[in-house]
Amino acid sequence: MNASTFLTLPSLNYRAAFLDMVDEFERAGQHYSYHDAARQDFAAFLLDTEKQSQGVDLPPELVPSTTYWLVTPEGVVIGRSSLRHYLNPALELRGGHIGYAIRPSMRRQGHGTRILALTLEKARELGLTRVLVTCDTSNIASARIIEHNGGILENFTTSPSDGVQISRYWIQL
Ligand SMILES: CC(C)(COP(=O)(O)OP(=O)(O)OC[C@H]1O[C@@H](n2cnc3c(N)ncnc32)[C@H](O)[C@@H]1OP(=O)(O)O)[C@@H](O)C(=O)NCCC(=O)NCCS
Repeated sequence: MNASTFLTLPSLNYRAAFLDMVDEFERAGQHYSYHDAARQDFAAFLLDTEKQSQGVDLPPELVPSTTYWLVTPEGVVIGRSSLRHYLNPALELRGGHIGYAIRPSMRRQGHGTRILALTLEKARELGLTRVLVTCDTSNIASARIIEHNGGILENFTTSPSDGVQISRYWIQL
């Protein structure tokens, strides 16, 4: 079942399925500002997502970043990932090249491990040769996902904004 899931760029075809996932995150009390824009005006949200990927009209603190959705052949949106095309000082410390989330009802089935694996392929296609992936050290699931994908722990850092300990891993592509 896992092996049949694939990444897609955000598109109107998955509007209802994506918003269904957003609702599920909200019901689980997991709020992301990324979701607000999708709920308010989906067409504008798609345009912004595309511009972010192309690096068009970006605020200075953001780097170009491509968003992917992990979907099933039946059209269920399982999760999302972001691939930042390069690092800035903030991402070097926390965030790295790739972020991901899996909808609450579909966790612990290997989808997190797969979404990172598939996004690493996209990173390779982009021409990256190694990527930084970070997680809160307390996020055991994310740490396992990174390690399953060949992550080598470089070090731990402490976030200056909230004092949280971050684990920083490099993955060779
Ligand atoms: C972290 C997250 C992506 C994991 O997704 P997932 O689909 O459950 O991941 P997987 O099923 O591939 O599980 C990966 C490993 O973590 C383990 N795991 C998953 N959830 C766990 C939990 N709550 N506690 C402990 N281990 C957990 C799994 O057992 C698996 O370990 P194993 O393969 O060694 O047996 C998901 O919980 C999520 O979206 N969290 C919110 C967003 C987030 O934290 N993103 C990462 C930011 S760095």
